[in-house]
Amino acid sequence: GTESLKVVAIDGPAGTGKSTVAGRLATRIGAHMLDTGAMYRAATLAVLRAGIAPDGDEVGGIVDDADIRLAVGDGDGEVLLNGEDVSREIRTDEVTAAVSAVSANAQVRTKLVELQRAHADDAYLVVEGRDIGTVVFPNAALKVFLTATPEARAERRHRQNIAAGRESILAEVLDSVNRRDHLDSTRAVSPLRAADDAVLVDTSDMTLDQVIDRLAELVAERIGVR
Ligand code: DC
Repeated sequence: GTESLKVVAIDGPAGTGKSTVAGRLATRIGAHMLDTGAMYRAATLAVLRAGIAPDGDEVGGIVDDADIRLAVGDGDGEVLLNGEDVSREIRTDEVTAAVSAVSANAQVRTKLVELQRAHADDAYLVVEGRDIGTVVFPNAALKVFLTATPEARAERRHRQNIAAGRESILAEVLDSVNRRDHLDSTRAVSPLRAADDAVLVDTSDMTLDQVIDRLAELVAERIGVR
């Protein structure tokens, strides 16, 4: 149908603070949140565990056979792969390095988009990803596209790494940000782009609180939820 769905779509590249923003916004407006990147990461973990190349022909079949579930909540929900909690394992460098290849697979996207749509409900849902406003929920009540310069995004990732006690070299983080941007925005299937009716929010010079305030304001204006 063409009716607007009770969905707030938040898309944008890595390092814009999307997950944190989506979680905090969801809490603020009493909605649940869906982190679709976590689903692509779980699919990637299934591929790595099967010992096949992330861009290989068998990827679609492996992911089709995998049982991927996301506990929808107000933040870091659990991610289950074949019943096992893999919430931590999907954040490793190994998964991060392979996820762009797996998420470029059309069969993988078809399966995950279907799982994502099944979460739409009578209650508001904040959904974050890359193709939420363009493909998954084109009828979302509000679409936001978060951007920031590659330098600002690399800087944030770098600081998170240091804070988490992980080794980090800023120049390498910037390289990886640029590489993933390129892969995500040039792939043939559902490339990362802003929906025509998305509101662009450049977070380069904004604090997290300012971003949340801006989004809460948009939600109040556009859908009247406070
Ligand atoms: O947001 P993230 O870093 O956890 O996302 C991991 C990868 O998954 C990212 O490189 C792009 C891909 N992804 C996607 O293709 N479509 C989505 N809706 C969400 C993530």
